[in-house]
Amino acid sequence: MTITMNRPEAPAGPVKLDRHDLRAAQIETLETPRMKYGLLSRMMFAPVDLLYGKRGSFTKFAMLETIARVPYQAWERVGYWAVHRYRGRSALARRVFERIVEARSDQDNEQWHLLIMQDLVQRDGHRQSWLLHRAAPWAISFFYYHVSWILFLVKPEWSYRLNAEFEDHAEHSYMEFVAENPELEHRPDPGAYAAEYGRYDSVADLMRQIGHDERVHKLDSMAHMAAPRLTD
Ligand SMILES: [Fe+2]
Ligand SMILES: [Fe+2]
Repeated sequence: MTITMNRPEAPAGPVKLDRHDLRAAQIETLETPRMKYGLLSRMMFAPVDLLYGKRGSFTKFAMLETIARVPYQAWERVGYWAVHRYRGRSALARRVFERIVEARSDQDNEQWHLLIMQDLVQRDGHRQSWLLHRAAPWAISFFYYHVSWILFLVKPEWSYRLNAEFEDHAEHSYMEFVAENPELEHRPDPGAYAAEYGRYDSVADLMRQIGHDERVHKLDSMAHMAAPRLTD
């Protein structure tokens, strides 16, 4: 006999919105000013804009999604270290594990974004060079990963703030891209990952959903900034 266990530790990720709510979410983002980005964020955004252009594109978003999951990986790693450290305090270790679960779920969500962007890049036949799409994302990810866990150990709210800024940048970039490219309203969602990510009325709505996910990531990081430490 086999026993099937529910997996409450595998959350579904940010909520999926319908057509009407996606449009409302886009308007809300466009009417909300961007956060004030700090030095570390600007150190990442400046080379990205220089190498991939200031305006959004599927290739630029694919690059950004490659580095988007990095802080969540860093927090996951620090979390496992903390679970081990607090092994004698089960309630605290459990709270740390809940943060690990959240970090893993957000990594998965960013991975779907990356797969969707890569699919759109390939459908449009855009070239991706080794330098711009392998070496540069690796170098920026390397920097981002180590900054994320070091900041977390020094002062967790700094690490959450850096991610909130990155997510804010992503949310606005997606929503502005949709506004600047009205032809996307008439382009059907190819649905390459419809079973896992949902199917949308158009590529515009698909991008709005991704933009809204980024907002959820941002708000989660901001909530953790307010209560960064799990220890009492
Ligand atoms: Fe993303
Ligand atoms: Fe994100």
